[in-house]
Amino acid sequence: MKPRIIVTGAAGLIGQYCVTSASRWAPDWEVRGLSRTDFDLTDLAAAEQAWRDLKPSAVIHCAALSRTKDCEQDPQLARRVNVEATAHLVRLCNDIPFIFLSSGEVFDGRAGWYREADTPNPINFYGKTKLEAEQLVLENPRHTVVRIVLTAGTSQNGDRSFVEDMWRAVKSGKSVTLYADEYRCPLPAGAIARAIWELVGKGESGLFHLGGRERLSRWEIGQALLPWYPELQGRLGKGYARNHIGAPRPTDLSLNCEKIQALLSFPIPGFRSWLKGRVHRGIDLWDYEPSLL
Ligand SMILES: NC(=O)c1ccc[n+]([C@@H]2O[C@H](COP(=O)([O-])OP(=O)(O)OC[C@H]3O[C@@H](n4cnc5c(N)ncnc54)[C@H](OP(=O)(O)O)[C@@H]3O)[C@@H](O)[C@H]2O)c1
Repeated sequence: MKPRIIVTGAAGLIGQYCVTSASRWAPDWEVRGLSRTDFDLTDLAAAEQAWRDLKPSAVIHCAALSRTKDCEQDPQLARRVNVEATAHLVRLCNDIPFIFLSSGEVFDGRAGWYREADTPNPINFYGKTKLEAEQLVLENPRHTVVRIVLTAGTSQNGDRSFVEDMWRAVKSGKSVTLYADEYRCPLPAGAIARAIWELVGKGESGLFHLGGRERLSRWEIGQALLPWYPELQGRLGKGYARNHIGAPRPTDLSLNCEKIQALLSFPIPGFRSWLKGRVHRGIDLWDYEPSLL
């Protein structure tokens, strides 16, 4: 019998890629994806029952209130989901590997190219909840935190990734403003899923940064997408985060990923190099296909 691994947030962007890519990258595991339709993770009794029934040998925890705006609007819910539900799973996973998906938003974005040893300083509520949860996770030396940033991908309902957000806005007749002074190192969800499965396979624990090799402004990211999303042509406007009104936004969340790269069997791609040479859009564009790299 194969050991069983639970993926929470399996209907979300990254959870979905973890589940669908498992037969390729983790054939030795029996993968059980859990989504909100199974139960709400803030229902602690339901979670305990599921753990008793499923008896997982490892867990990849992708479920979260993952949008900064939602966390600012409902900080109590953000804390319940991102911190308290995570803390509960950490306790349920005391004796098994637990991989927690965190975010570069734990940094204030003033410096960029952050290393794992750099001091976090979240400036929005989302980042604060992720940092608080990280600290709980890392109390257990068997457990793992992977900080990621802007993720490209296609989801079941087409409403999860930044690429889908742009596309949906334009389809509904709106224009999209992209900041030319805000930097990220985007990575396709297929590459993130492969890296996570490799960490699981190697039994690696601790804190890791996982971002794309290339640091790009949001404006540059939009421009890179134009050949694959021609509908965006003429609908992307250049703006500046320094004029932004709303929740605080870190300027530069590029991540130094040397630590995880040293463990991985494949080179972490840059966003533009990933796109180069790809011909199909849709899930194929963001799924990991080694022959295209
Ligand atoms: N995508 C990114 O760019 C990015 C960047 C940095 C970090 N991360 C982190 O990576 C992880 C995965 O992100 P993602 O992009 O896959 O997020 P996502 O698409 O929003 O998926 C999260 C999933 O968690 C589920 N969920 C939320 N609250 C729940 C609850 N109380 N009980 C059960 N399920 C619940 C959501 O269900 P509903 O759909 O029903 O709400 C959703 O399916 C998250 O921890 C996120 O913070 C993501």
